[in-house]
Amino acid sequence: MNIGFIGCGVISIAHLEGLEELKKANQQTFELTAVCDLNEDRANTFAAHAEERLGKHPAVYTDYQKMIKEEKLDAVSVLLDHDLHHIVAEHCFASGIHVQMQKPLAISPFYGRKILADAKKYNRVLTVSEPSVLGAENVAMARAIKDGIIGSVNMVMDYATVTLNRTFFAGTAWRHFKGRAGAGWINDHGVHRTHMFTEVNGPIHEVFAYAEIFEKELSDGTTTIQPTGEDTSVTVFRFDNGGLGHWMCSTAAHGEKMSGVWIYGSKGCFRPGKHAALENGQIIPAKDLIAQYAPEVAAHPFAHSYVELWEAIAEQKAPISSGERGLEALSIVFTALESALIGLPVKVEDVMNGVSHAYEDTVIKEMLADRRG
Ligand SMILES: NC(=O)c1ccc[n+]([C@@H]2O[C@H](COP(=O)([O-])OP(=O)(O)OC[C@H]3O[C@@H](n4cnc5c(N)ncnc54)[C@H](O)[C@@H]3O)[C@@H](O)[C@H]2O)c1
Repeated sequence: MNIGFIGCGVISIAHLEGLEELKKANQQTFELTAVCDLNEDRANTFAAHAEERLGKHPAVYTDYQKMIKEEKLDAVSVLLDHDLHHIVAEHCFASGIHVQMQKPLAISPFYGRKILADAKKYNRVLTVSEPSVLGAENVAMARAIKDGIIGSVNMVMDYATVTLNRTFFAGTAWRHFKGRAGAGWINDHGVHRTHMFTEVNGPIHEVFAYAEIFEKELSDGTTTIQPTGEDTSVTVFRFDNGGLGHWMCSTAAHGEKMSGVWIYGSKGCFRPGKHAALENGQIIPAKDLIAQYAPEVAAHPFAHSYVELWEAIAEQKAPISSGERGLEALSIVFTALESALIGLPVKVEDVMNGVSHAYEDTVIKEMLADRRG
């Protein structure tokens, strides 16, 4: 099948690595036949990288609507700012093209529901390329935990702080505006975590959070902005199964960054990316868990994301990282922000279904006021 990339920015190169891994393994999925970016130099440079890694130079476009009209594409991967996800997805579905969306599914739950509805309306496949639940290591983790390796999960702790020194995350200013990114880092980075939390321990019922914008001004030396997305959030939550979680993320840390996830169960602790530590002292490294639980899964999460997309199209196989799961992950983030805004605990279901939307309204207002609204 033929695939096109829309957006050739920061993350797109990691997707080439995924396709390259599949090519080296002789696993037929997609041929990258076209790429598009508003920035023509970026699109051309990316096409040259694609040729080096995949052996074929894709056609280059600066207008994605032209690309989907002129190229015979089965699918696209959408690698764009979050406010564009729902717009581009609808155009692609309406042109008969299946979509792999980058996280977060959309700029807000309302637009996430719209993407799901459009996929259904045009009878097209939608997957979310969510690396925290894809790739052999992450699949092995989820399968091992569901298999009871650490007993029943009763506590998740997740802390992530980065030291931007008042510059832009990933060099991109748009990430700091909620009208472009949906929220601050709690959305951009946070959906990875909420997707992983629910993958290993089921739905989250209720969330309480505080959120702040500590850094009122950011600059890369050329551009100076006043961010509207939160740079720090501290959250507690309860899973449907009674387990508790404590989760924080911040791009406003100075001096020392930190990152760590601990998933505690009644028989041990799982450290994603590291090992399972059991109460009897046994440490099971990730590689042993992969051998036991996910030997058939591609190692690179993005390689796996293309296998998922291909199997969903060709074999109607349900993807692990579906649009529905992407909407759930996004809704948990928005539940935290809803809670921080109104000062009360909020049920995820209420935000996912559009019953509670005070925070989301502020995002949509800013998005619509933006030039691209
Ligand atoms: N680990 C991950 O899964 C991961 C990591 C980073 C980013 N992402 C996601 O990938 C997406 C893209 O992020 P990024 O970091 O690559 O952003 P980026 O800003 O580096 O890249 C976006 C690209 O889209 C281009 N673009 C913007 N509007 C366009 C349009 N209308 N038509 C064509 N091109 C257009 C821009 O010129 C830019 O090159 C986001 O959804 C982000 O959250 C995922």
